[in-house]
Amino acid sequence: MSATRLDRRTFLGGVGAATAFGALGLPLAQAAGADMPLRERAARKGMVFGSALMAASLRQMPALGETAARECAIITPENEMKWRYTEKAKGRIDYRDADQIASFAAGNALALRGHTALWYRNSPDWLVPELAGPAGRGLLLAQVTQIVSRFRGRVTEWDVVNEMIEPNDNLPKSMRNWPPFAPGDVGFLADCFHAAREADPKAVLYYNDYGVEYSDTQGYGDRRRAGVLELVAALKSRGAPVDALGVQCHTTVGNRFLEQVYRKFMADAASLGVRILITEFDVNDKRVTGSPAERDRKVADHARQVLTVAFDESAVKGLVTWGLTDRFSWLSTSDDPRDRRPDGQRTRSLPFDENMERKPLWFAIADCFDKAKPRT
Ligand code: XIL
Repeated sequence: MSATRLDRRTFLGGVGAATAFGALGLPLAQAAGADMPLRERAARKGMVFGSALMAASLRQMPALGETAARECAIITPENEMKWRYTEKAKGRIDYRDADQIASFAAGNALALRGHTALWYRNSPDWLVPELAGPAGRGLLLAQVTQIVSRFRGRVTEWDVVNEMIEPNDNLPKSMRNWPPFAPGDVGFLADCFHAAREADPKAVLYYNDYGVEYSDTQGYGDRRRAGVLELVAALKSRGAPVDALGVQCHTTVGNRFLEQVYRKFMADAASLGVRILITEFDVNDKRVTGSPAERDRKVADHARQVLTVAFDESAVKGLVTWGLTDRFSWLSTSDDPRDRRPDGQRTRSLPFDENMERKPLWFAIADCFDKAKPRT
């Protein structure tokens, strides 16, 4: 177990004393020292910085591991703990890649997020017909117990339930239409949280979801925000052990961001008694044209806009990016063409470029940590 292991009791509790450079009138980023890694900038405020990593990318690019060890206080496997990945063929469970990430975390004294125990896109192909049958929910619940138990003592926090809100499915309370469930079956999701708590009593348990940043004119974002808040409230009112809300925060330059709407969402979430972590941050520049430098500037500006508001909410305890380098962003290789750039170029959505050089996005994140109020 690593020295910096976070558990439920000490969650984000290792707070470095915040220094009051602002009071001296010095620009925060400079005062902090340009080379100070993000993990230290975050720690000075009682916050955390981290990233998703892929085992294959770590093997392919040693510099990625060096950067992760320097910049991150917490990491998460991008795919390697998903059921789709751990049991590609029925009964042949393979945790080697998940273990590689867990060992990397332990070897570098990093905390580890488990992602994700229950997700509608987690299912290996062989499982899909079985889920539709009467045993479906039991299989899902057993998997929650299995994976959380397997990593007990190593994973410090779990995304227990991921992405159960989808207003376009037109079910009550904007719940996702996923056949193993009866519509609106919050009780089953509560069971998943109880199973996770039982399997690892010390892990911090999250409900994790996306798409709460923007205010489109059709009201889709409003329905997503309401759905997420309602679900967390419903889980808590049933006594489900939901400790935290994961706000994925996959952002896109050019989407309509209304500061006061996001501010209110974060405050409303905090008032439900959950801690908040930004869990999958990146900035899609698929609609941004121009030189790499111009794209990088717009990406950084957008990040600054969103993260400033998020970090103003003291319940927000940190930021995890969905990768560190543009070389491996899921947005560039996504199956869904709507995620990718129309010109076929890689997105420039992460804090480091293909050669692990810091980009303006890194500096924007650094600034947001430097300006954040110390968490208590
Ligand atoms: C994505 C990965 O980044 C891709 O490599 C994979 O092909 C699909 O899943 N929300 C989540 C993450 O919770 O697990 C998703 O990760 C991105 C969206």
